[in-house]
Amino acid sequence: MVEEDWVCDPGLMANRLLMNFYESGSLFLPSDGLARQQAAFEDFYRTEAAQAAELARPEVERFVFGFLDSAVRVTGQWDTDALEAHVTAAIKETTSADRPVLRAIEESPDPKRAAETMIAQMALDGLTEATAMSQNLGGAFGAEQSELFKIFIDEFGYGVFDAKHSTLFAELARSVGMNDQPHHYWYFYLPSWIAGNNYFYKVTRSRTDFFRYIGGMAFLEATFAPSFAAMTKTFRSVYGDAVDTRYFDEHAHIDEHHGRMAVYDLLLPLGRKHGAYAIQEMVRGIEEVRLLGRIGDEDLLAQIAWRPEAIDAAGTGGEPLEPGGAFETRVADRDTVIAVVEGEAELHWSPTGAPLRFGSGQSVRVPRGRLYGVVPGEGSAVTLSEAAEGTR
Ligand SMILES: [Fe+2]
Ligand SMILES: [Fe+2]
Repeated sequence: MVEEDWVCDPGLMANRLLMNFYESGSLFLPSDGLARQQAAFEDFYRTEAAQAAELARPEVERFVFGFLDSAVRVTGQWDTDALEAHVTAAIKETTSADRPVLRAIEESPDPKRAAETMIAQMALDGLTEATAMSQNLGGAFGAEQSELFKIFIDEFGYGVFDAKHSTLFAELARSVGMNDQPHHYWYFYLPSWIAGNNYFYKVTRSRTDFFRYIGGMAFLEATFAPSFAAMTKTFRSVYGDAVDTRYFDEHAHIDEHHGRMAVYDLLLPLGRKHGAYAIQEMVRGIEEVRLLGRIGDEDLLAQIAWRPEAIDAAGTGGEPLEPGGAFETRVADRDTVIAVVEGEAELHWSPTGAPLRFGSGQSVRVPRGRLYGVVPGEGSAVTLSEAAEGTR
């Protein structure tokens, strides 16, 4: 998969599949008790599913992450000084860059929908925060193992549920009227954001990716504090006092420390101890995470900026979309036109906010790369076709 093909329907499906593989390695229990969901619980964790997943996983990982091998090139001789210079420059570049996603939310004509589209993406990690990190707590790798644990216990609120970062995220979601259960907004995850989350599962599951993980994690922890401080401002401007910003505020504070700890107590000591190979891998991790972050930002920005409109234009054939099926979303592989021949339809393109309703003789254009779901009205005739060149 090459970089420009990243945001597509197969990319969405592959990333969803990978997310299920990885998450079946962690425990999820329904917050209202197991009783009503025991069958689903047993099904999700059954041995046969795990075996099938294990067989398919390497292939799907190659499909999703294979492009990183050529997109990120790390060459030359690296020592700890070069690593320090590199990570410092990467952090500085990122923290001093402008924040187009936050600006787009503030300037959106529908800022809540835009903000909530972002919160739904953040929920991928936010509601299970530090699960990937927990995958490297075991084993024996010296003083750095204990340094990693120090960061981990902060993420877990020092064993206090109310202070756990995932609890703070759930409160953020509730305060803006969003659902706080993992994967409630499953259909509205953008492929690039699932991929960013999957990356951290991948590199913490594979022991030989450990140094990449440390590179990527250290880079992120060291850039989080100012980004989360900026998020508080943006979300305050959208929701006023109603929003519970403790999730952002906590990161604006604690990641000042985590950034320093991850760079100076983990990254650099590991480089000194384990040498050129480890250093090169850590640099690769930094660059892979930067690249995935850029792709995620572009994808989210495009989703936020997209304002679908119904126009009076009849469809010209195309694939019929049958009413009554289960709700599903997909990513447009090409510029696409959804047309109502008879009856009506709804177009969904964000986790919250009303869908766009359009009727007979009307159509909506979905630009390439955008995530959407169509619900045809009962008894309606709705079609999907490729947009003709130069139409809108
Ligand atoms: Fe955190
Ligand atoms: Fe942190």
